[in-house]
Amino acid sequence: MSREKVILAYSGGLDTSVCIKWLMEEKGLDVICVAGDVGQERQDLEYVRQKALQIGAVESIVIDMREEFVNDFLSKALAANAMYENKYPLVSALSRPIIVKHLVEVAHQYGAKYIAHGCTGKGNDQVRFEVGIKALDPDIEIIAPVREWDLRTRDEEMEWAAAHGVPVPTTKKSPYSIDDNLWGRAIECGILEDPWQEPPADIYTLTNDARVQTPDEAEYVIISFDQGIPCALNGEPMSFMDIILAMNEIAGRNGFGRIDMIENRLIGVKSRECYEVPGALALIQAHKAMEDLCLERELLHYKLEVEQKWATLVYNGLWYSPLKEALDGFCATTQRLVTGDVRLRFFKGSCVTVGRRSEYSLYDYSLATYDAADAFDHSAAKGFIELHGLPTKVWARQRRKVGRDGEI
Ligand code: ARG
Repeated sequence: MSREKVILAYSGGLDTSVCIKWLMEEKGLDVICVAGDVGQERQDLEYVRQKALQIGAVESIVIDMREEFVNDFLSKALAANAMYENKYPLVSALSRPIIVKHLVEVAHQYGAKYIAHGCTGKGNDQVRFEVGIKALDPDIEIIAPVREWDLRTRDEEMEWAAAHGVPVPTTKKSPYSIDDNLWGRAIECGILEDPWQEPPADIYTLTNDARVQTPDEAEYVIISFDQGIPCALNGEPMSFMDIILAMNEIAGRNGFGRIDMIENRLIGVKSRECYEVPGALALIQAHKAMEDLCLERELLHYKLEVEQKWATLVYNGLWYSPLKEALDGFCATTQRLVTGDVRLRFFKGSCVTVGRRSEYSLYDYSLATYDAADAFDHSAAKGFIELHGLPTKVWARQRRKVGRDGEI
C-alpha cells in the first residue's frame, strides 16, 4: 500500500531537514518539500531543493513567489500602512500566508492529507501557518514535528540528525534566528534576548551604521504613487518590486530602517525583536505622506484605526479571515485618489519627508495661507468655536456654581 503524503514547508535549515527524516520514520509518511522564494537574501534555492531529495523527500519543489508576494500581499500591507504596535511592518507575518497558500495548493495537487511546518511552540509563526491552512482547507491535518519531538537542545538535534543520516551543519551556527524577505529582516535570539544589551553590529546586513558608514551628503528620492501603489522612482517608471529593491538599497546605504523593540507575541510572551526594514519603512512613510495630502479628514482619521486593526489581525495569523478581507475592501476604496509624488531626504540614519504633490491634493493654498490671498472666512470661526466649546462652557458654569472651578 502506498504511504500517505505530507507537504513540508522546507527552508533547508537543520530543523526542517530533521523534519523530513522524522516525518518519514516516526509518522511513516512520504515527504514532499516546498521551499518558497519570497526574496530572502541568502539562499541558493536549487541547493535547498536538492538537499531535501538527498535526505529522502520523494519530491522537492521551489516556488518563486516574489511577484505574487508583492502584488497580492505587500500591496495590501502598504495600503494599510501596516505596522504592528505602530512599529513593526510585519515582515514575517506577511510571508506566512503566501507560503500557506502554496502549501495548500501543492497538497491538493498531490492528494496529500497532511501539511507540516518546522515552527516551535513559542512563536507566532506556528499560529500563522496553522490558522492559515485551516482557513484554506479545514480538512487538512497539521503536523508540527518540532513541537512534538523530544529534542530539547540543538546538540540533541544534531546527534539525532547524525544518527539518522541527515547532514549536520559544519559551520558554527549563527547565534541569531533570522527570517527575511523583500519587506525586510527579522533578527531574534542570542545576546538580543537581554533587552538591555545594545544589538551588535553584526546582526545587520541591509543597513549601514549611520555613525560610521553612511554618505556625508544627503540623498533625495522622489517616489511616485498610482492609486496607492509605488510606480516610479525619481521619475523613472518601475515595478513595485523593483522600487522595493531600490529603496532597500537607498535607505539601507543611508542607515535608515533599523528597529529595536519589545513586542507582544500572540501567545502571551514579550520578546525583544530587531528588524531592518529600510525599504518598507521608507515606502510606508512616503505612502502616509501621500494620504495626508489626498484623503479627506474623516476618512484619514478612520483609516488610522482600521490600519491598527489590520496589522493586529495579520500579526495574529488572521490573513485569511472575513474581517481582514473586509478591511482590505475599505483600504482599497481609500486608495483611489492616492496618486502623486513624495520627496524624501535621507541622511545619516534619518528619512524626512520634504515634499508632496498630487492632482488630487486637498491642500488648498487660498484656505491655508496667512497672506493676502487668504479666502478663509474668519468670521465663520467665531460661531464655530462658540458651538464647539458650548459643552465645555456649560460644564465650567456648573462647576463654578458649586465652588469647584475647573475640577472634574
Ligand atoms: N517576531 C516576528 C513575528 O512574529 C518575527 C518572527 C521571525 N521568525 C523567525 N522564525 N525568526 O512576525
